[in-house]
Amino acid sequence: MTTLVLRLVPIFMTNYLYMLRKPLFALLLMLVLNASRANLIESIFSPDRNISFMVVATGTDSTGYSLAYEMLYRTKPVIGTSALGFVLNNPAIRLDHFEVLAKQQNTVDETWSPLWGEVKHVRNNYNQLTLKLKGKRGIIVHLIIRVFNDGAGFRYEFPAQPGFNHFIVGDELTEFRLTDDHKAFWIPGDYDTNEYAYYTSTLRNIDATGGGSAQEIHAKTFFDKNAVQTPLMMKTDKGLYINIHEAALVNYPAMNLVLDKATLTFRSQLVPDVVGNKAYLRAPERTPWRTIIVSDKATEILSSKLILNLNEPSKTASTDAEWVKPQKFVGVWWEMHVGKSSWDYSGSQVGSQQASRVPHGANTANVKRYVDFAAKHGIEGVLVEGWNTGWEDWFGQWKEDVFDFVTPYPDFNLTEVTAYAKSKGVKIIMHHETSGSATNYERWMDTAYRFMKRYGYDAVKTGYVGKIIPRGEHHDGQWMVRHYERVMKKTNEYRIMVDMHEPVRPTGLHRTYPNFLACEAARGNEFNAWSAGNPPDHETILPFTRLMGGPMDYTPGIFKIKMSYYDSSKKEQVHTTLAKQLALYITMYSPLQMAADLLENYEVKMDAFQFIKDVAVDWDDTKVLEAEPGDYVVIARKAKGKESWFMGAITDENTRNFNTSLSFLDAGRKYIATIYRDGDKADWKANPEAYAIEKFIVDSKTILKLKLAPGGGTAVSLMPAAATELKSFKTYK
Ligand code: NOJ
Ligand code: CA
Repeated sequence: MTTLVLRLVPIFMTNYLYMLRKPLFALLLMLVLNASRANLIESIFSPDRNISFMVVATGTDSTGYSLAYEMLYRTKPVIGTSALGFVLNNPAIRLDHFEVLAKQQNTVDETWSPLWGEVKHVRNNYNQLTLKLKGKRGIIVHLIIRVFNDGAGFRYEFPAQPGFNHFIVGDELTEFRLTDDHKAFWIPGDYDTNEYAYYTSTLRNIDATGGGSAQEIHAKTFFDKNAVQTPLMMKTDKGLYINIHEAALVNYPAMNLVLDKATLTFRSQLVPDVVGNKAYLRAPERTPWRTIIVSDKATEILSSKLILNLNEPSKTASTDAEWVKPQKFVGVWWEMHVGKSSWDYSGSQVGSQQASRVPHGANTANVKRYVDFAAKHGIEGVLVEGWNTGWEDWFGQWKEDVFDFVTPYPDFNLTEVTAYAKSKGVKIIMHHETSGSATNYERWMDTAYRFMKRYGYDAVKTGYVGKIIPRGEHHDGQWMVRHYERVMKKTNEYRIMVDMHEPVRPTGLHRTYPNFLACEAARGNEFNAWSAGNPPDHETILPFTRLMGGPMDYTPGIFKIKMSYYDSSKKEQVHTTLAKQLALYITMYSPLQMAADLLENYEVKMDAFQFIKDVAVDWDDTKVLEAEPGDYVVIARKAKGKESWFMGAITDENTRNFNTSLSFLDAGRKYIATIYRDGDKADWKANPEAYAIEKFIVDSKTILKLKLAPGGGTAVSLMPAAATELKSFKTYK
């Protein structure tokens, strides 16, 4: 009982701190609190003082305080008293009682410019508290807390120290105690894949073993019933949006969260290695940041730059980065997923069920067709999957040395294709499927990248399908986290851009390695080709979850929605309208965007394909206009170095209307708005391909009335109007 009372006091007291805008008063009050309440160790506020973060002691013993933290947004609790610390396996101790040796606060307010991104400039403004702590056996740990206007991040640092320098982490004790049974958007705490459709439930109704469509291909052997992955998105009854994730995941396993339903407390669950250890740390070393983003506006969650700000600056100087190019691409890809052609030479390896053998997709003539299309329509890249030997044995066989990444199949004339692409100004994108054999890939990496450079390839899509070989390691464990970073580093050294499929979920490392353009790490559009697919709300949840950590290669742009087109017996389909596929180029931020459908499906709908041709992939500005996780997202973005804007609006299974003000446009300037909308009777299930295109003159005073079909969307391009255009189009009313 005493502890409970003690626990409640800091939250109660700091409400006054929030209300006290004058720093001197706040300081005085903190001094008083410190003197009278041993349980408040230190408070720290966001620069705008809306967020308060308290470090408190929940008990003491001979080795010091047991430390915890709490967080408030204005007067609303965000995180209740939550423990901090570790269980170490070496030295074998529980490191959760500390003496506070020193405290230090400082403020940072700076602006930096990403090489590419959603905005031109990012403000990095926070107050930092560093606590120097001494735990059992004299082990020194620094707890570093940064509080921004949109949330907080904290990490543990093990400085170099006399005595122990080699730590084995058995468990991280970090908790996130929620203060009510919030609505949550979650996927199971699997150690190997994030390719799930999202569940929406209250916290107490989380059941990670309760089914889910991704189980078609992934064995659910590892996860706890109450374990979920981050980014975890929540909404409270009091109108707060809370997002928990991590930033700068380097040399450490990913963190899942296991819910104790009695106390609504999430405990961190680090992905283990083969013998059950979590992390091997040689001091000086530090953990990733644990991040809590909070706002009373869903739109502000989507525009948060907190995770990027917590990552290290770019290792590529902006003066030396002309080789890092945001881009669009087409590719020999969807044709395998729909079962029209195969990855392997003999024609049996396809994405969906098929009765007979099909042609090998990556043959010289077929690839040249993609090159011609890309050249004609100003698309920068052509991805070629299935070009190299090994695909006969790639899946489910756990062979270590399937691929060598340098040997083409006999019908793919690499020299000829490369020269042809070069003559047309198109870049071929390399494909390295590792089939989960990371050791094999590490042995081949240098050879494979030198081979790429010899042929002038400057981008690679990697993949880690299946269990990790050697067996026992997980996709999201420390061993693989180190592997992905080595790939980022090495490709950076070779000046190669990289797009990873099946890696650990991203945590903002694209700031540090801007050649790491995108990754998958979630359930992409491909699932719609050969599985129960992605429900219509999927793309309204992804920006609040997976995309919080970084860009996703979602592969939008599917125009032929129903798979029965390819085979009348097929029931699979994309769970959106065609117009929503266009809107995804805006709502699913990525500097690397595929136009994923077959060329022949674009050839017959060139009017709609025009949006994909026009849309930018790099931006000077982004306005998140409307958003609600699981329901809808409306975003406008200004093309980098240009005057044009692009808008995307998407909805879940419900039809929706938006009155969208174009006040972000330059005042006094006229623009031509090209509106790609759902047809009047469009519906993702019954009539998904019906669309209409309209052009109007608009300006910053225009209010666009958008009408989205069930599972639908609208895409809009807004280009400054030429004088002649002002005569040919009507003003929007
Ligand atoms: C899964 C990836 O997500 C997909 O894009 C790729 O085509 C296959 N693996 C084969 O590498
Ligand atoms: Ca995948």
